[in-house]
Amino acid sequence: MARRYCLSGTYPLPLLTIILLVLSLLTGAQATYAKTEVDALRDEYFGLERDLWQWLDKATMSRNNMETQLRKVYNSHRNFTNKHQMQRSFPKNYEIGNYSEWRLLERDIIEISDYFNFYKTNIMMKPGSSANLEERAVLDFTDTVLRNNEHFSMSRTFQDIENIMVKQALYYRVHMFSSSQICNMHQSPQQFVYALYSDIALTELKGYIMMEFSWMMLRVYGKGNFTQEAELMRNDYERRTERTLKLLQEVMRRSARIVWRCDPEPQHHVLGQTYDEVTRLLQGFIENEVDLNSDETCRETCSYYQNTRTESCFKEKFCARQPGCKGRLYNCQFVQSDMWVCQAPLNSTRRYEYVEYENGSVLGRRGRCVRGTSKVDSWWRYLFWHCSYCMCLCDEQSIKSDRFFNLREAVSDFTQNRVVTGLRFIKKNRIFHLQIQEGELLPRGNINQTSLTWKPVDNYNIFDRDVIKGVDYHSLSYESRSVDLDDINTDDPSFVVTGVRFRVVGTHLNLEARLTEINFETGKLVNSKELSYWNSNDNTDVSGDNRRKKLSISSPDIPTRTIVKSIPMSKHNEFIEFVNSDLYKDAAQTTVPFMDVQDVVSNPPVPLSGVGIYYKGRPGFGGFLAPKIITYDFTRHVVVPKRTP
Ligand SMILES: *[C@@H]1O[C@H](CO)[C@@H](O)[C@H](O)[C@H]1NC(C)=O
Ligand SMILES: *[C@@H]1O[C@H](CO)[C@@H](O)[C@H](O)[C@H]1NC(C)=O
Ligand SMILES: *[C@@H]1O[C@H](CO)[C@@H](O)[C@H](O)[C@H]1NC(C)=O
Ligand SMILES: *[C@@H]1O[C@H](CO)[C@@H](O)[C@H](O)[C@H]1NC(C)=O
Ligand SMILES: *[C@@H]1O[C@H](CO)[C@@H](O)[C@H](O)[C@H]1NC(C)=O
Ligand SMILES: *[C@@H]1O[C@H](CO)[C@@H](O)[C@H](O)[C@H]1NC(C)=O
Repeated sequence: MARRYCLSGTYPLPLLTIILLVLSLLTGAQATYAKTEVDALRDEYFGLERDLWQWLDKATMSRNNMETQLRKVYNSHRNFTNKHQMQRSFPKNYEIGNYSEWRLLERDIIEISDYFNFYKTNIMMKPGSSANLEERAVLDFTDTVLRNNEHFSMSRTFQDIENIMVKQALYYRVHMFSSSQICNMHQSPQQFVYALYSDIALTELKGYIMMEFSWMMLRVYGKGNFTQEAELMRNDYERRTERTLKLLQEVMRRSARIVWRCDPEPQHHVLGQTYDEVTRLLQGFIENEVDLNSDETCRETCSYYQNTRTESCFKEKFCARQPGCKGRLYNCQFVQSDMWVCQAPLNSTRRYEYVEYENGSVLGRRGRCVRGTSKVDSWWRYLFWHCSYCMCLCDEQSIKSDRFFNLREAVSDFTQNRVVTGLRFIKKNRIFHLQIQEGELLPRGNINQTSLTWKPVDNYNIFDRDVIKGVDYHSLSYESRSVDLDDINTDDPSFVVTGVRFRVVGTHLNLEARLTEINFETGKLVNSKELSYWNSNDNTDVSGDNRRKKLSISSPDIPTRTIVKSIPMSKHNEFIEFVNSDLYKDAAQTTVPFMDVQDVVSNPPVPLSGVGIYYKGRPGFGGFLAPKIITYDFTRHVVVPKRTP
């Protein structure tokens, strides 16, 4: 799958690709799928227009009076312009990159869009009906719409749209641009190209409707025949549409469909708002060797103790002046004998702010020490046994250690025809949940914007009765702290995401997505209760040809300390472990990666064909785990029409 991420800088325009794309306009086969909204609308108008011309021809022969003809043409057009799909105006200030040819074209497109609003309010919405139409006003209007001079020409604008968007492949260049901007846009590149097409095509249809209306009115007022003019115009329109849709198909097929969130501006990370933490999973902890074995001896070195626990507190030394570690201790090592320890405030999840050794080495960042430093010295026993202070990793389950992940499913309300439109991590009662944004699915891939809500997560506590570890939630530990990094996609493009959940595979947290079939045309979920299924990537890191790769984080600092934004660093079919931060950079006090808790949604919302968990970061920092969404693939609904005979 093509995956494009937030890279800065400009792309050179691959000329060859454009040539290939334009060549591909000449070929192409087509299965039949429900069309996109604007294409269906155009078809509908073509039908209406054909009927009207036929009726006008008959009406003339039967000498139907002018008033009847006027009413018919007028009312049909009024009905059509009142459709809710026709109410959208072309958005001003489209951010599509710095293309000078676009700036002129955009001005003309907006002029047509504004003109249509005038048409709607002044010609179509006259109180009463066609009876109130003034011939003079209508003829003025047709003059304006059909005028063709150096200031304004609707047909020239149509030509320009084709020249710039299709022949000069601006659709393709916009796709490249949006791929480079993806995390600022809240849209996937495919969604962006599709939205641009929909907006331009709707405006072109509006222009076309106004011109057709004008020819018909001129005909009714007896100014000429005009069947031929109308037919020519329609042929041109069909030809342009065909070329446009062929290019659009190619571009959309190549566009990524991923939406992910950039970091907030550097130094604007806010705990609980933009990120949250797993705390005290593995944390640097100072303990003397004498307390690491049950015999209170000092016969070994620190590194002998790779998996042990605190057995005693010999003579109430430093061990009595710091909170103990009630879990297991791993990977002990010796750094230096004598040190000053700055303990962290009691309400902090850290144990130490920093540790400074006698030779000047510092673990963590030396700063002001609110509680004052403690001098901690190793000692000799009988001249040949050194009772050293070791630096170990403490895995202690305590009220300060938030290490839980919800395993219950989050499913959209399919009884209300709702689908998943966005994701975010949220920490509730010390448990991380993957929360879903849901919205009502409408015809042709639309989502009812006013129906969007974040479905509340299950409000349970790990100590509640009937809440079971391994069933309701997963608890991370030294042995089980991996998260699988996958994109879970639908295998069948007519399915969309209606739920997510985590499960535990071996010692890994593993993402699953619930998929349900939709009817694109009606916008209804198809038998969601029985026919939905859960999809996942079942590969493990221990067996199989396609085993998972481990993504290691080397010497990580606290992720929020970086002054540049993270970039995605994981690929599908990898996994990552929660680890302690670097000993020297942070005294191993922090658990990384952090969890990005920003909303991952697209604007406008669309159904999703997949979801994923990925890792973003920078070398030397702990990075973030975050969800991403994969937007519905509209490509196959871009149907190149069969030409009318
Ligand atoms: C316009 O719509 C109304 C209501 O939907 C319908 O009754 C009427 O026949 C339509 N008029 C024309 C000319 O299509
Ligand atoms: C857009 O491009 C023009 C020339 O190609 C340049 O002068 C202008 O500064 C650019 N604007 C932006 C916002 O990049
Ligand atoms: C208008 O022109 C078309 C084709 O040129 C012709 O078939 C039709 O009869 C004409 N209608 C009138 C009313 O002259
Ligand atoms: C700990 O308490 C101090 C003072 O009461 C407060 O300023 C600080 O924000 C608290 N830190 C945390 C992590 O709660
Ligand atoms: C202090 O000792 C440690 C361990 O022996 C060594 O890694 C570090 O480089 C020393 N620091 C300085 C400033 O000499
Ligand atoms: C959109 O959702 C709102 C709130 O749920 C509802 O009142 C409205 O009828 C919906 N609109 C459509 C077009 O379904």
